[in-house]
Amino acid sequence: MKFLLETQRLILRSFEEGDAERFAEYRSDPAVARYQGWDAPFSLTQAKQFLDVLSQTKPGTPGEWFQIALQLGASGELIGDCAFCVLDNEPRQAEIGFTLAQPYQHCGYAVEAVTRMMDYLFNDLHLHRVRAICDVENLASVRVLERLGLRQEGRLLDNVWFKGRWSSEYVYAILESEWRAQRAGDTP
Ligand SMILES: CC(C)(COP(=O)(O)OP(=O)(O)OC[C@H]1O[C@@H](n2cnc3c(N)ncnc32)[C@H](O)[C@@H]1OP(=O)(O)O)[C@@H](O)C(=O)NCCC(=O)NCCS
Repeated sequence: MKFLLETQRLILRSFEEGDAERFAEYRSDPAVARYQGWDAPFSLTQAKQFLDVLSQTKPGTPGEWFQIALQLGASGELIGDCAFCVLDNEPRQAEIGFTLAQPYQHCGYAVEAVTRMMDYLFNDLHLHRVRAICDVENLASVRVLERLGLRQEGRLLDNVWFKGRWSSEYVYAILESEWRAQRAGDTP
C-alpha cells in the first residue's frame, strides 16, 4: 500500500525506484550527512539497496525506520525525507528524523513536513509519545524541534562515538496530549 499525505506545499509519499539517484545525491552532500547515521558520499548502489529494503517495510512496524519522500507539490521534485521508527519495546512511542537537500533548506519545509507526519503519528497510529535525538551542535535540527514544540528533556554528555569523536546529544519529546493542545491553538 502506498503512503501518501499532503501539506500546502508538499507531498509526503512512499519512495519509488526512480528516486534513487536524487536520494544518493543529497545524502552525498557532506553538510547534509554531517550529523546523520550515514557517511558521504552515499553511492547509487547504496541508495538502491536502501530503497529496496524500504519498499518492503510497512509504516509503523516496531523497530523499523520508515522513510517518507518529500516532494514539492508544484514541481514534483524530491527535496528530502522525513522518517519515523516505532520503538520496538514501546509500540505507542516513536522516534523521528528529517533531512532536506541543501537548496531547499531555510524555506520552512522541515517544519511543514514534520508537522504533517506528527499529525499522522498521533491521529492515525494513535501514538502516545514522540521523541527525537539530535547532536547538540546541530542547530538547524534543534530549531526545527523547538519550532515543532518538542520539549528538551535531556542532554547526554559524550554519549556516542560518532564520526571519529565523542558527541553529546539532546533528547526531545512531546506527548499526544501536548501535541493536540498545541495544534488546537494553531492559527489556521
Ligand atoms: C535540520 C533540517 C532538516 C532543517 O530544515 P529546514 O527546512 O531548513 O528547516 P525550516 O526551514 O523548517 O526551519 C525551521 C527553523 O530552523 C531554522 N534553521 C534552519 N536551518 C538552520 C541553521 N542551519 N542554523 C540555525 N537555524 C536554522 C530556521 O531559521 C527556522 O527557524 P524559525 O522558525 O525561527 O524561522 C536541515 O538543516 C537538514 O536537512 N540538515 C541536515 C540533516 C540533519 O542534520 N537532520 C537532522 C537530524 S536529527
